[in-house]
Amino acid sequence: MWTWVSKNTLRLVYGSPKEWFAPEGFKEGEHGNVEVTEEEGKFLLKANGRILQEDISISRDGEYFCLTMKMWRGNIFGLGDKMGPMNRRQRKYIFFNADDPIHTPIADPLYKSIPFFIVLDRKTSFGVFFNYPGYMEMDFDSEGKGVFKIKVRGEGLVEYFIFNSSVKEIIREFLNLTGKNFPAPIWAFGYHQSRWGYTDRNVVMEIARKFREKGIPCDGIFLDLEHMDSFKNFTWDEENFKEFPEFVKELHDMGFKVVPIVDAGVKVEEGYEIFNEGKKNGYFLKTKDGKDFEGAVWPGRTRFPDFTRDDVREWWGEKYANFVEKTNVDGFWNDMNEPTIFATQEELDEMRERMADIDLDDGWMIPLTLLSFSNVFKSQREEEIVHKDDLPHWKVRNAYGMLMTKACWEGLKKRFPNRRFLILSRSAYPGIQKYGGVWTGDNHSWWEHILQEMINIQSLSICGIFFCGFDVGGFGGDVTPELLVRFYQLGAFTPFFRNHSAIGTKRQEPWVFGEYYENVIKEIINLRYSLIPYIYSSYMLGIMKNVPLVRPLFFEFQDDPVTHTIEDEYMFGPSILVAPIYRFGQEKRVVYLPKVRWLYIPTGEIMKPGWRVVDAPLEVIPLFQREDTAVVKMDPQNFIFEKDLKRLYFDVFLNERVEIELYEDDGESFSFEEGDFSLRRVLITRDKIEVESSRGGYKPPVREWVFKILEVEGRIREISILVDERDLKIPLR
Ligand code: GLC
Repeated sequence: MWTWVSKNTLRLVYGSPKEWFAPEGFKEGEHGNVEVTEEEGKFLLKANGRILQEDISISRDGEYFCLTMKMWRGNIFGLGDKMGPMNRRQRKYIFFNADDPIHTPIADPLYKSIPFFIVLDRKTSFGVFFNYPGYMEMDFDSEGKGVFKIKVRGEGLVEYFIFNSSVKEIIREFLNLTGKNFPAPIWAFGYHQSRWGYTDRNVVMEIARKFREKGIPCDGIFLDLEHMDSFKNFTWDEENFKEFPEFVKELHDMGFKVVPIVDAGVKVEEGYEIFNEGKKNGYFLKTKDGKDFEGAVWPGRTRFPDFTRDDVREWWGEKYANFVEKTNVDGFWNDMNEPTIFATQEELDEMRERMADIDLDDGWMIPLTLLSFSNVFKSQREEEIVHKDDLPHWKVRNAYGMLMTKACWEGLKKRFPNRRFLILSRSAYPGIQKYGGVWTGDNHSWWEHILQEMINIQSLSICGIFFCGFDVGGFGGDVTPELLVRFYQLGAFTPFFRNHSAIGTKRQEPWVFGEYYENVIKEIINLRYSLIPYIYSSYMLGIMKNVPLVRPLFFEFQDDPVTHTIEDEYMFGPSILVAPIYRFGQEKRVVYLPKVRWLYIPTGEIMKPGWRVVDAPLEVIPLFQREDTAVVKMDPQNFIFEKDLKRLYFDVFLNERVEIELYEDDGESFSFEEGDFSLRRVLITRDKIEVESSRGGYKPPVREWVFKILEVEGRIREISILVDERDLKIPLR
């Protein structure tokens, strides 16, 4: 069976699946120009004489439904933040959310399942989304025989085939299907400090004060497990975090926002309100014999809300809103929501039994047994858990974290319809972008992870998850000075910029390595803050138009095939190319500059397209500005709402004509949805600057706009004008 769901998107059904989470954009659409023929559930897709999908065969392997077809030509990009190269070709991937704390190059699966990818070759590109939240494997020709295989535990599969020759359009179309990105508040684009191990409120206050004393900008303080009373969600520790609402207020008064963690599991404790309610109303996941499923997470014995149910999500959503009412916190990071379960009672019993049989004479059975225990932690308990109406967990597991985040978003939106919160999730499935952003979980203080995170944020972004980031400095392991700096240099050019680390590891706040490194890091954070107008405007325009902030080079320069091979450079918004350093001791790097002329920002050198080598000692981030663009900046501040902006700076790199749109709004409410935003077109040519009067109901204050115009031949001019809401046309000489 097949239907068009938009002009460019086909919905193909193989076998007899149930589509659990049909995308909202699903509706009969116009017919596109792909020819489709179907024979016994096998589809042949053809466009402009080219075959796009062929040699399909369907088979069953016990409980599994398998589909193979001829492997597509070209590179495969997408699948969210999976480990390994950005091009997914020649690897096999599992989609079944798991908490694997050691992200080796082959760790798979991890926390998220984003079964969407783009096939990109010189001639064409298209997108494929297999909408299945249960257990799934995809093999992109790991055998080298030209075969793509997909295997699901279940009765069939739904494929959305997005036919369009532009990557930009494919992403747009995918988001028309799965939903637009959530509006993060403007302060979410500032810098955030976090650590598992800030033991009490004094420690947190000390950290906060240090930022202000040292003049290192910071907007958000994240609270980890310590703030809770015995790991109970939506509580605080009366001893270590006493008078919690006052503590939040104190931080607010210093210009910080406060974002506590929430875990998916609920501590089993009679008298704990959330546990009692969940138990009484039957809101928790069940075992096959109808009892509440119980496993261990941080609190010890834990039960898990069944987020696939509307009533449970509504109940859980209210908890966030209640907590905000009590404490006035500014957001939440939703964690352990794969869900992660350390062990069950049966597993512990089994381990004990097996260990009882083992002694020194068992030789290699000893490490093998111990190793098998470490897998327990990652296991998904798919056989044990059932949802309402006996729905097996393995059919919907991958959507669990997304649905928890949906509860968070909806609960907050209902109670605080005009306040934006910073919402994050570790686990994800397509659709997550409507409710919050993501971080990539427990990375390490390893050089290899700088490159991996660069790949991760690009892959998440093209999968439609625009608000993404990673633990700057690395979560696990001990960071070293240079590594920390290089992590910051990448982090400053990602949507969500947060330093976070694990308990027991070396501290990694900006100042831990002494004055020199502190100053280098302070400058990186200052640079980030100077770019806030550019970043925020690009993000908000991006969520309206379905364009990510982080863009692989092929997103902007698809017709240049060299860009299809590059994973260690990317565009941050429309104007800036970032080529971070990700090796210890490296002070130069090779950069590919596509198509146009580029301004090497650190030195002011103008570069022609092609392969170039640039100097990048530790203080330097290889950043390039694209020809005929502008970057809108501000004076850095300690936090985003510290002072009214009196001045905006436009760094213009001009050949013929620069045309940009500048978006502004209040940054914290939803009034922009009613038209309370300001959108201005700014045009700069060699002989004039034109500023269009603002569209939309939000009136930014009258400000000085300082234009620094660098022409490609090297001439520099600086013009400063006072801009109110009216049209302006300034001739240039
Ligand atoms: C998980 C999270 C990590 C957090 C820790 C303790 O490992 O990924 O960010 O610090 O749990 O809550």
